[in-house]
Amino acid sequence: MWGGRVQVLFRLWGLRSAGVPGRRLLSCSAASEKGSSSLRCWNCGGPGGPGPGDGFFCQQCRALQPPDPTRDYFSLMDCNRSFRVDTTKLQNRFQQLQRLVHPDFFSQRSQTEKDFSEKHSTIVNDAYKTLLAPLSRGLYLLKLHGVEIPEGTDSEMDSQFLMEIMEINEKLAEAQSEAAVKEIESTVQAKQKECTDNVSRAFEQDDFEKAKEILTKMKYFSNVEEKIKLKKIPSN
Ligand SMILES: *[C@@H]1O[C@H](CO)[C@@H](O)[C@H](O)[C@H]1NC(C)=O
Ligand SMILES: *[C@@H]1O[C@H](CO)[C@@H](O)[C@H](O)[C@H]1NC(C)=O
Ligand SMILES: [Zn+2]
Repeated sequence: MWGGRVQVLFRLWGLRSAGVPGRRLLSCSAASEKGSSSLRCWNCGGPGGPGPGDGFFCQQCRALQPPDPTRDYFSLMDCNRSFRVDTTKLQNRFQQLQRLVHPDFFSQRSQTEKDFSEKHSTIVNDAYKTLLAPLSRGLYLLKLHGVEIPEGTDSEMDSQFLMEIMEINEKLAEAQSEAAVKEIESTVQAKQKECTDNVSRAFEQDDFEKAKEILTKMKYFSNVEEKIKLKKIPSN
């Protein structure tokens, strides 16, 4: 999906930040915590706030500043707060931020800056992954609008849809050949594409309930996709 170079960067990145992205996906709720991010540099006491280097560095002493807990992923990644994101721009921004805050660049700096760079790295990594994939992006955007999908919403799903999912799962369990798995995979991918288009429209119309409904479906399809991935790994 992304170029080899980014993938390499990504792998390097992964070594550094052992956080589990999925779990921290909605860590934007930190944004609603009281953002007492002091606007003074921790190092020299100089005035902080946005400036060259995107507010990451003190304008006076150039020391790396702590992450701003009030900043959401869209703002961090320079994207409009919208479901439609330009993934090329997102990727460029990701690389730009990596160049600013990657721990490798702070090996000769103070422990405080090392710690901050680790924190920044984890957040940047999460922000990129979250905004890149339509499902996590949609869930994040929904959360910013105060709508969450609780675990175990099965009882609220329409039974016809649940039946559809059950049938796909059964087919997958019974699939004997690679071709059969591939066929199921492309069916699910087509569904996800359709859902992505639909949810995009729902967000455009500020219809968050509709978006929630579609994203819930996408979660089911995404679970199936995980199972397909597992099935594709040769078991011996
Ligand atoms: C963000 O939205 C503004 C106004 O709708 C638009 O002009 C601009 O091109 C958008 N930026 C991106 C990166 O999509
Ligand atoms: C997408 O929306 C169309 C029109 O509302 C609907 O017919 C279709 O079933 C939706 N697709 C999925 C996968 O939910
Ligand atoms: Zn300073």
